[in-house]
Amino acid sequence: MPSFSGKAPGKIILFGEHAVVYDQPAIAIPVSEVNANAVVSAAPLRPEGEVWIEAPDIHLNQVLADLPVDHAFQTLFGALTKRMKAPRLPAMHITIHSTIPIAAGMGSGAAISVAVIRAVCAFMNFQISDTELNEIAFQVEKSYHGTPSGIDNTVVTFEKPIFFTRGAPFEPLDIGSELCFIIGDSGAPSRTIDVVSDVRRRWSAQPEIYELYFQSIGILTRKAREQMKVGNSLKLGGLMNENHALLQKINVSSPELDFLVDAALGAGALGAKLSGAGWGGNMIALINRRDAEKICSALTRSGANRTIITELKPSYGGMIE
Ligand code: MEV
Repeated sequence: MPSFSGKAPGKIILFGEHAVVYDQPAIAIPVSEVNANAVVSAAPLRPEGEVWIEAPDIHLNQVLADLPVDHAFQTLFGALTKRMKAPRLPAMHITIHSTIPIAAGMGSGAAISVAVIRAVCAFMNFQISDTELNEIAFQVEKSYHGTPSGIDNTVVTFEKPIFFTRGAPFEPLDIGSELCFIIGDSGAPSRTIDVVSDVRRRWSAQPEIYELYFQSIGILTRKAREQMKVGNSLKLGGLMNENHALLQKINVSSPELDFLVDAALGAGALGAKLSGAGWGGNMIALINRRDAEKICSALTRSGANRTIITELKPSYGGMIE
């Protein structure tokens, strides 16, 4: 029986997390070393409309109709069948596997959504543009946490480095010279919704101070876009350190993340910061390629339970599709 697959990469935020929820720009890159994969095959012996979802990495093995109405997959299939104008789907079995760390700020939820949408569209022989796909993935993100900026689904869908402002078309980034990063996983799970809600509470209590923090992060992000374009990794690293200091001020770092950031810098990284929502999950360091092994070892000794090396090659961002 033929099967149809869909794939999407992980992501990491280089600058601007949290501030992006408050209309400041952010920079994110895809991490293609990890990915989510969905495979759809027909289930002719099952009743029409039955969608069986098997996703061992997120401990799910059941029929879509039995999931709670506010479950992310319900939102996904509701939006997708509306777009396809296909209220009743043929019976199908979907298997999902992901190598993206879960609840760790690497976009695993968004990547699973994008992979599933791609696989189901291929199965149904339905043409969908990345822009439409991104819109559906954004609706699913909203069901995870009420006020997502949309950066995760966008970078994962288009799989290119982006300069992103909420509600505006994204800008593909120009990369002036090769940039090498190490991602270190603190191993502490963190739910984006909890951290984003806590930041909102603090912002409501002290709006002037928090607006200043967010604006400062926005300024760093714009400077970072320029340094990525000209390929000045020393200056870019300094901007990452400044961004981390501001993330500490808005209370989204943790002792484990600070420890990993310090370990990377102590071993020669050009800059380092937490990435994603914070409180747990991942940090990212900009490094010289030749120092990769030394910095990976320092991170592992300091408690990272996984490290991933990812690179950006020089490229011209080009036009949005
Ligand atoms: C999560 O990857 C990034 C946050 O800025 C939330 C968002 O942009 O939706 C914390």
